[in-house]
Amino acid sequence: MFLSIKTPVPNDIPLELPLPEWLLVVLLIVSFLAHIVFVNVMVGGSILTLWGQIKGLKNKDYDVFAHEVAKTITVNKSIAVVLGVAPLLCINTLYTVYFYSANALTGLMWILIIPLVTIAFLLTYLHKYTWERLDDNKWLHISIMGLSVALFLFIPLIFLVNVNLMLFPEKWQSIQGFLSALTLPNVLPRYFHFLCSSLAVTGLFVVWYNKRKNYPVEEIYSSLTRYGLKRIGYNLALGASVAQFLIGPIVAVSLPAKGYSWGLFIPILCGVAVAVLAVRWLWKAVTGPKEDIDKNFGKIVLALTITVVFMGSGRHMYRATALAPHQKLVAAKTKEFQRLSEEARTNAANAKPVELITDPSLGEVAKGAAIFKQNCTSCHKEREKLVGPPMTEMVSIYENDPEGLKKWINAPGKKRADFPQMPAFAQLSDDDLIELSKYILSIKK
Ligand code: HEC
Repeated sequence: MFLSIKTPVPNDIPLELPLPEWLLVVLLIVSFLAHIVFVNVMVGGSILTLWGQIKGLKNKDYDVFAHEVAKTITVNKSIAVVLGVAPLLCINTLYTVYFYSANALTGLMWILIIPLVTIAFLLTYLHKYTWERLDDNKWLHISIMGLSVALFLFIPLIFLVNVNLMLFPEKWQSIQGFLSALTLPNVLPRYFHFLCSSLAVTGLFVVWYNKRKNYPVEEIYSSLTRYGLKRIGYNLALGASVAQFLIGPIVAVSLPAKGYSWGLFIPILCGVAVAVLAVRWLWKAVTGPKEDIDKNFGKIVLALTITVVFMGSGRHMYRATALAPHQKLVAAKTKEFQRLSEEARTNAANAKPVELITDPSLGEVAKGAAIFKQNCTSCHKEREKLVGPPMTEMVSIYENDPEGLKKWINAPGKKRADFPQMPAFAQLSDDDLIELSKYILSIKK
C-alpha cells in the first residue's frame, strides 16, 4: 500500500538515538501518563469550576466550592506544563519524521498552541485573583472562566489532531491544514475519550482533596458537608467512567485497521477488566452507607491507574504497528540515499571533467549545441514534447528575450501544470548560458 501511494517518503535523519530505543519508549509512555493526569485535572477542574460558579448563583456554597477547585487549577497547570516536556522530547526523537510532518501539515494551528495556552493561563490567574473584586459582577467573572474553559477544551484538540495525523502518512497528501485533519474519522471519538478521562480523574481528585483530615471543610462551607463534597467527586468519576464504556468501543472501531494486531487486545482487555472493578467500587461508594464512602478509594485509584497504564501501552502498540511499514520504507530509502551519496562522493573525487564533443559544421552555435546535447536532450527534443516542451516552443517564448532564457535555465520556475518541475542548472557558467541560448534561439520555428 505504501509503495503505491504518492506520499512523499522522506529520508529519515540518519542520526543515532540518544538513548536505547526501549528506554525512550518506556520514558515516553510513563512521562506522557504523568503529564496527562495533570492535564486531566486542569481541564476537568476548570469545567468543574465553571459548573460550580453557575450553580453558586443560587447556592453560595457552590461558589465556594468553585473557588476551592479554581485555586488548584493554576498549580496543576504548572505541573502539567513541566511534565509535558519529557514526552515531547521523547516523541520528537522516536518519531521525528512523523511528528514534524503532522505539525507542518497543520502548521498555523499547531503554532497557535503557544499564544492560546498563554492566554488560557493568564485568564485562569485573572479569574483566581479577581474572585472578591468581581463579587458584585458575577457574570463577568464567570465569563472569564468560560473563556478559559473554551480554550482548555480546544487546545487538547489541536494536540490530538496532530498525534493522530502522524499515524497516517498515507493521508498526508490530501491534508490541507487543521480542519481537514480534524475530519479524519477517529479524531472526535478520541477527543471525547480524553474529555471523559479528564472528568473521571478530576472526580477522584475532588474526593481526595476533600477527604484530607487537615482540610477544614466545616470552616469553609456553611451547608455542604464533607460527605456531600466527596459525593460530587465520586459521582463525577462514576459518570465519566461509565461514559468511557460507550466511547471506548467507538474509538476502537473508528481507528483504521492498519494499527491493529492480536497482541493489542491483551492490554486493552486487561484495561477494560480492571476498569469494570473500579466502576463497581465507585458505584458502591455512591450507593452504599455514608460511613463506607471511602472504603474502596485506594482500590479505585489503583484500578484506574492500572487501566490507564494498560491503555497507554495499547496506544503505543497501535502507533508502533501502524507506522512499522512506513518506517521500514524510510529505512530502505535512507540506506539507498546514503549509498548513492557515498557513490557520488567517490565518483566526484575520481572523475575527470567530461569533454564537450563539438560539431564544427554547426559554426558559431557548435559549443551551445554540445552543451545542450550534454545537459538537455534527455528531456527536450527539437520539435516534439518529451519530458519538457519542444525547443520550438522555447524559441516562441524567448525569441526576443535571451536574458529571460538564461535566467530560466539557471533557476527554472514551475509553469505548466501537466509537466514536472525542471531541474536547475546553476552549475553552468555565464559563458555556457550565452552559448546555450544562442544555440536554442537559432532553431527555426
Ligand atoms: C529532467 C528533465 C529536464 C532537463 C534535463 C531539462 N529540462 Fe527544460 N524543461 C523540463 C520541463 C519538465 C519543463 C517544463 C516546466 C514547466 O513548465 O514547469 C521544461 C521547460 C523548459 C523551458 C521552457 C521555459 C518556459 O519559460 O516555459 C526551457 C527554455 C527549457 N526547459 C530549457 C532547458 C535547457 C536549456 C536545458 C538544459 C540545460 C533543460 N531545459 C533541461 C524538463 C527538463
